[in-house]
Amino acid sequence: MKPSILNKPELKEARRRTKELVSTIEFSIPASAMHLGDGKRYTIHTYGCQGNEADTERIKGILEEIGYAYTEDETKSDLIILNTCAIRANAENKVFGELGRLKHLKVANPNLLLAVGGCMPQEEVVVEKILKTYHQVDLVFGTHNIHKIVEYLEILSGKKTKVVEVESQQGDVVEQLPAIRTSKHKAWVNIMFGCDEFCTYCIVPYTRGKERSRDPQHILDEIDQLVQEGYQEITLLGQNVNSYGLDFQDKKYSFAMLLTDIQATSIPRVRFTTSHPKDFSMDLIDVLSKGKNLMPYIHLPVQSGSNKILKMMNRKYTKESYLTLIQSIKQAIPGVSITTDIIVGFPGETEEDFLETLDLVKHAGFEGAYTFIFSPRSGTPAAMYEDFTPVEEKKTRLQRLNVLVNEQFKSGNERFEGQEVQVLIDGFSKTNQQVLSGYTPHNKLVNVVGDASLIGKTISVHIKKAKTWSLDGELLHDKT
Ligand code: 5AD
Ligand code: SF4
Repeated sequence: MKPSILNKPELKEARRRTKELVSTIEFSIPASAMHLGDGKRYTIHTYGCQGNEADTERIKGILEEIGYAYTEDETKSDLIILNTCAIRANAENKVFGELGRLKHLKVANPNLLLAVGGCMPQEEVVVEKILKTYHQVDLVFGTHNIHKIVEYLEILSGKKTKVVEVESQQGDVVEQLPAIRTSKHKAWVNIMFGCDEFCTYCIVPYTRGKERSRDPQHILDEIDQLVQEGYQEITLLGQNVNSYGLDFQDKKYSFAMLLTDIQATSIPRVRFTTSHPKDFSMDLIDVLSKGKNLMPYIHLPVQSGSNKILKMMNRKYTKESYLTLIQSIKQAIPGVSITTDIIVGFPGETEEDFLETLDLVKHAGFEGAYTFIFSPRSGTPAAMYEDFTPVEEKKTRLQRLNVLVNEQFKSGNERFEGQEVQVLIDGFSKTNQQVLSGYTPHNKLVNVVGDASLIGKTISVHIKKAKTWSLDGELLHDKT
């Protein structure tokens, strides 16, 4: 079948960075599409990071604005979207597995539209594979053109055709996208898009485009709106939030300045992710030290403790400078909880390099870490590096690292035993419907017996017992 649109991604274009100004697009729905989804249902599956979760909320917002209703039941769905992640091979394999599984639904319902969006389509190899093998897919779109979904659905409506449109240019900033937010009390707020770091292992600069910051006023307006709607917590999102504002050509306005302005709003809790150590400025530490609604929790990916590997990764800091930074943060924010990301088995990593990582984990005192085995991503420099370490050895290193990380996770929890903490209640615990769970300012998961009326509220809890992954507490009194 000949596609109506066939616009494939290009790695070379995706790698390009220019000083060209980014445009800000105001989203709107064409009158002709206002009722396109009336009476129809959609399902969406989200893979990967918070950026994708936030994008899914926007996709849902757009679809519901044109009449679609959400369903979890795929057999009743007219449109199934997979919002995909490209960060590691196993994330991608899951999606290809899903596409195979969903094929039979197209047999039962020939009108069903199957769409693949997000980071995977931004890769040349993936689009080729979909076109060659996964004929059941009707729509392929990337991270830069979520706002055009309506246009694509109009083309596909009632016709036997395909749309494959992936843009590899540097990306725009799209404002006024509607959103159906998953939580009624916690919200994602994008502050910037893209990444210009080009860590040698990472596909994100190719899939998410150039670093581009949202206008501060748009961010502050969104936060004000969330406050009015009763939201209790926001998480500011960006691949490298510390470089927020560096792309502004008309003003000097940094992440530290944005946080200062957000500190003055009445949103009760503010978090942010992800930080790059190389851009973590003293100004930023200074704002964070003033606390207020800025939570004492920082996720600061280190990736490796070996200077040799950090250099090969293009991380632009050393083990020593990272530890000095951690020291400054801890001094300025007493009791702060710090977590990290670590990759083991990067090409060329020796036992000595790995021991440097273990040493750094101990000295930094991380209270949690996301740990991964290096996964070569097609088109990135590290995918071409010679790699002599056997997979079994890499798996053993990961296990050794995880033992240490888990010990430190537990001691991070133990320091709250016997204390009173403020917990923003998310809902009932996944494992026990009598028990509520939520997070403390330090991002510690707390379980406490209580009723549904406490969901979305911040309550005082007395911590009785620390476990490895969570804390058990007792309700003291309702703070609201
Ligand atoms: N292989 C393994 N882990 C990776 N990450 C990013 N790219 C890769 C890769 N190719 C990890 C990094 C990053 C986190 C989001 O995912 O640790 O911080
Ligand atoms: Fe990937 Fe590095 Fe950018 Fe993070 S900072 S998204 S690891 S390239």
